[in-house]
Amino acid sequence: MAFKLIIAAFASIVLVSYTMDINTVKKMDGTSPLQSTPKEAFMLNCGTCHHPTRDLTGPSIYGVRSRWKDRNLLYKYVRNSQEVIKTNAYAKALFIKWNKTVMTPFPKLTNKDIDVIFDYVDGEAKKKGLL
Ligand code: HEC
Repeated sequence: MAFKLIIAAFASIVLVSYTMDINTVKKMDGTSPLQSTPKEAFMLNCGTCHHPTRDLTGPSIYGVRSRWKDRNLLYKYVRNSQEVIKTNAYAKALFIKWNKTVMTPFPKLTNKDIDVIFDYVDGEAKKKGLL
């Protein structure tokens, strides 16, 4: 009986660490984060540094699509901000303003993935009457 309990306990530890691994992979490499809901995609990938409507480690990003004249450059920025900072004055100024905090690159996010995240963030701002 005790042996069975030990086996069961061991099995659940294995299961829990396996599940945690999946989450880590999902978060770190940016693959198909949108298999989850838009809110989860935001929370998993961006939520550690961005709040939908308040400044945190990074600026609040609601309405950001209207701040960038070049939409493709904005997508490129989310995939690799450091690359865009080299050539774009606005991105460079933002980097300096935010104490040169490096934003994590998300090379695997598609334009559509990024729009889904921005739509979620804008939706939160609309709920609060900010947009
Ligand atoms: C490690 C922290 C971190 C994570 C994770 C992060 N960001 Fe950022 N982000 C920043 C910081 C800091 C800035 C300010 C610019 C800088 O320091 O380079 C920024 C700037 C931005 C900007 C420009 C805002 C503006 O006003 O023009 C956008 C857009 C953005 N992030 C989107 C995202 C998205 C989308 C995600 C998730 C897929 C994400 N960020 C994840 C830290 C982060």
